[in-house]
Amino acid sequence: MPLRVLLWCLLLRLAASSDGVDHFVFNGFHGAELRLDGTATITSEGLLRLTNTTKLLMSHAFFPTPIRFRSSPAGSISSFSSTFVFGIVPEFADLSGHGIAFFMSPSEDIPGAIGSQYLGLFSPSNNGNSSNHIFAVELDTIQNPEFADINANHVGIDINSMRSYRSLPAGYRPRHGGGGFRNLTLISGHRMQVWVEFDGTQMQVNVTLAPLGEPKPSIPLLSAITNLSDVFFESMYVGFSSSSDPFLTSHYIVGWSFKMNGEAPALNLSSLPLLPTRPAAKQSKNLATWVPASLSAILLITVAGIVLLVRRRIQLSEVIEDWELEYGPSRFSYKDLFMATKGFSDKEVLGAGGFGKVYRGVLPKSENVEIAVKRISHDSRQGVKEFVAEIVSIGRLRHRNLVQLRGYCRRKGELLLVYDFMANGSLDKLLFDQNTPKLDWNQRFRIIKGVASGLLYLHEEWEQVVVHRDIKASNVLLDDELNGRLGDFGLARLYDHGGAPQTTHVVGTMGYLAPELAKGGKANKATDVFAFGVFLLEVACGRRPIDAQAAEEEAVLVDWVLSCWSRGAILEAADSKLGDVYATEVVELVLRLGLLCCDPVPTVRPSMRQVLQFLEGDVPLPEFTSNYLNGTVMSLLQNEAWDTNMLSCPGGSTTASVLSEGR
Ligand SMILES: *[C@@H]1O[C@H](CO)[C@@H](O)[C@H](O)[C@H]1NC(C)=O
Ligand SMILES: *[C@@H]1O[C@H](CO)[C@@H](O)[C@H](O)[C@H]1NC(C)=O
Ligand SMILES: *[C@@H]1O[C@H](CO)[C@@H](O)[C@H](O)[C@H]1NC(C)=O
Ligand SMILES: *[C@@H]1O[C@H](CO)[C@@H](O)[C@H](O)[C@H]1NC(C)=O
Ligand SMILES: *[C@@H]1O[C@H](CO)[C@@H](O)[C@H](O)[C@H]1NC(C)=O
Ligand SMILES: *[C@@H]1O[C@H](CO)[C@@H](O)[C@H](O)[C@H]1NC(C)=O
Repeated sequence: MPLRVLLWCLLLRLAASSDGVDHFVFNGFHGAELRLDGTATITSEGLLRLTNTTKLLMSHAFFPTPIRFRSSPAGSISSFSSTFVFGIVPEFADLSGHGIAFFMSPSEDIPGAIGSQYLGLFSPSNNGNSSNHIFAVELDTIQNPEFADINANHVGIDINSMRSYRSLPAGYRPRHGGGGFRNLTLISGHRMQVWVEFDGTQMQVNVTLAPLGEPKPSIPLLSAITNLSDVFFESMYVGFSSSSDPFLTSHYIVGWSFKMNGEAPALNLSSLPLLPTRPAAKQSKNLATWVPASLSAILLITVAGIVLLVRRRIQLSEVIEDWELEYGPSRFSYKDLFMATKGFSDKEVLGAGGFGKVYRGVLPKSENVEIAVKRISHDSRQGVKEFVAEIVSIGRLRHRNLVQLRGYCRRKGELLLVYDFMANGSLDKLLFDQNTPKLDWNQRFRIIKGVASGLLYLHEEWEQVVVHRDIKASNVLLDDELNGRLGDFGLARLYDHGGAPQTTHVVGTMGYLAPELAKGGKANKATDVFAFGVFLLEVACGRRPIDAQAAEEEAVLVDWVLSCWSRGAILEAADSKLGDVYATEVVELVLRLGLLCCDPVPTVRPSMRQVLQFLEGDVPLPEFTSNYLNGTVMSLLQNEAWDTNMLSCPGGSTTASVLSEGR
């Protein structure tokens, strides 16, 4: 080994052991030992790829050892210089992720940092806090009004905050050729070079940008005098960060060099790896077909681009009116919901009910917050205002046995409701689906008590009476701990608002409808209790309220349990799948309580408070006597002679609105 090289190696060792590394060069990243996290990876071409995913993730790539920026903790900051080549390749020409930041931080683990617009550097709670000690140069490709971003294509100097200290639209003044300013598009998919220089005595930062191959412009894009003494510690990590967006964008670093107290080593441009091209940019090899093909290709791409843009505009359009402004926090943007549900993809459908489809989603700009989005088509403009007011007010309901409504979004002819996601789906699946594990009696009883206390809250414990109107097993959802939670409360109102004044839709589900409702009565607390009674029988018997396939005497669940009861063998109705391991008294209690709640005379039905007392065993269940004519619901529903007046609840107000019903 030549002596000079040996000496140099020794010197480098010495420098490395006492003072750490003070310079490095990466012409491509083949074999580079960087510390990577998140989605960052080194590709087989030698590119440092920070993101290429539509998942909301962030990534960091650090030089593995910290760099000394001050000779002593109290010393002044030394000058430094760095240059790097980057490329941003978005899937669509005009829609991209959030960009790239070149930054210095005290540690490799940035506390609390989140992705999306915070680029993996800050979080809403620490943004702007001087305790961050982060200096960054951002290549920002989305305009975030909350950070006062100037546009969706700018370069900024960030000090402890995403709100840039200085920023300007991306561009450069060529060294040769007029010196006029030329715009650059950061997401063009072309490689560009950035120089970041800091003069420790002047406390001046310069940031310069140029297309790859262009000599470094003599006039920097950004130049700022700023005292960084309070930002830099003695040693800092240097690296890049990026974050992905629902739009597939690949952020690449192609080459990088760094030096303390001197100019960053030049990159060998001819040895830098190439960026992958966008699929649309592929070219035909045959020269004869190239010209017409490229012309038609350009035409096609332009037309496709315009169609895509217009479609996206239409797709993402929503309706906001002045009166909604006060509901700000409850209002979700359609774009966020669109992203969350992967464009309302069929793969994300959780179920479809009477009101429309329900989609699973993950909120963008969040740490994996799962939601369920109910999409309801809604033709009538009339009543929307009142309905939204109710939705917002219902959103204020908080109970551990209710599915939390997070908010809404409105589009033309469509309303979207956003709920907490319930991991175990709806109860009817667990009760009736052959392929799911069966719930044992203790689990069922816990769910029953949960639903009862949720309904009690709606009826009696909130500031206004809320009538649910559609209690049934498929509206009971189970969270990750198998707690029963009532969903869809108040939703039935939608039909009332939409309909013509004189036509009253029968709201609810066949089999759960109280006789007086089926005969044109109004929903009230007692009709909810009736449906709850059917629900009790459903859970205890493991049968649907109406089973067309069953033998005639067993087809209507209430009638069948009634007949078992009148034979003195009510337990015969209990779900055979329960086995023998349960307290028969409790099952009998639930069955008898179910029958009591299903009494045809509304005033005989207990209140939800009483129901809960019976379930808890605080009060013994009264002896039950059936008020059914001929002993069946069926006969009652068929008997036109039945006097509906007799059924109407004394003083039971027929309500103008669920929420305006007084106490
Ligand atoms: C990431 O990019 C490569 C090409 O650069 C592509 O083949 C791959 O499918 C991408 N991954 C995802 C998740 O999009
Ligand atoms: C800044 O961060 C520190 C430490 O995390 C915290 O104690 C302080 O309250 C924060 N200041 C502001 C203004 O948020
Ligand atoms: C550069 O972009 C700005 C908007 O960012 C625009 O106003 C200006 O006209 C553009 N200049 C050129 C030369 O295209
Ligand atoms: C920054 O740019 C200015 C020219 O605009 C130059 O005078 C100064 O020396 C530069 N400073 C650094 C640290 O490169
Ligand atoms: C920078 O600020 C520190 C204290 O925060 C001060 O001691 C130092 O003199 C300042 N340097 C310059 C160049 O203003
Ligand atoms: C730059 O890279 C090319 C190709 O890898 C190589 O042939 C050339 O010698 C390099 N130049 C320098 C100055 O290292």
